[in-house]
Amino acid sequence: MMKGIVLAGGTGSRLAPLTNITNKHLLPIYDRPMIYFALEALVRAGLEEIMVVTGGNHAGEFLRLLGSGGPVGLRSLQYAYQERPGGIAQALGLTEHFAAGDKVVVMLGDNIVEDDLASIVQRFERQERGARLLLKEIADPAHLRHLGVAVFDGDEPERLVDIEEKPAHPRSAYAVTGVYFYPAEVFDIVQTLKPSGRGELEITDVNKAFLERGQVEHDVLSGFWGDAGESIEAYYACTQYARARILASG
Ligand code: G1P
Repeated sequence: MMKGIVLAGGTGSRLAPLTNITNKHLLPIYDRPMIYFALEALVRAGLEEIMVVTGGNHAGEFLRLLGSGGPVGLRSLQYAYQERPGGIAQALGLTEHFAAGDKVVVMLGDNIVEDDLASIVQRFERQERGARLLLKEIADPAHLRHLGVAVFDGDEPERLVDIEEKPAHPRSAYAVTGVYFYPAEVFDIVQTLKPSGRGELEITDVNKAFLERGQVEHDVLSGFWGDAGESIEAYYACTQYARARILASG
């Protein structure tokens, strides 16, 4: 059975001072804590076994908030603790034992996705090898400069050949979102990573390792996507989207 992983560590410095006394993923997005959106997206996609990786001084709050998973519709929920903020890929490495050789869907706890992930999960179940990424077209290059950006060979968004992390000059209009589908080999790749300029193990380096093997497929999201931790503007856009969606669903 495919496993779900929600990564919710980090310092959230881009949302300071909101994050000076709490973890970013516990901040409200309209009527619920940010991390609910990632968990609910995975639950809606049919995942039943999920692990949350958190860190820092607020790890206990996640347990108090989410307990055994009941608030997001799960019968149980697993947790791991990242002792140092060593990056997204390092946090992912902590889930190897939980994954136990199964495929995983990894979602950053600050990502808000409108599209239903169920059909993409099914496609990944059938995928024979490698990773699967989700891209989102973003018109504003200033916005793309804060994200991982896809590089294509020829027509966008067909042949994905590279990813540039926070490029000064984005080479396409497609961001690499924080929803990643990986086979069990991802944990071997994490072992080989070296810290980046910001001293972290980067998820983009994991994805580039799969690209080097020619083993990456991708889908393009059609609905709203936001990284609520990217900037205060992005946080606000996510809140506006969530309010509209939640009010519309009654
Ligand atoms: C991370 C990834 C980046 C991706 C983004 C999506 O950035 O490194 O490639 O586009 O998440 O949310 P971070 O939020 O860690 O700066």
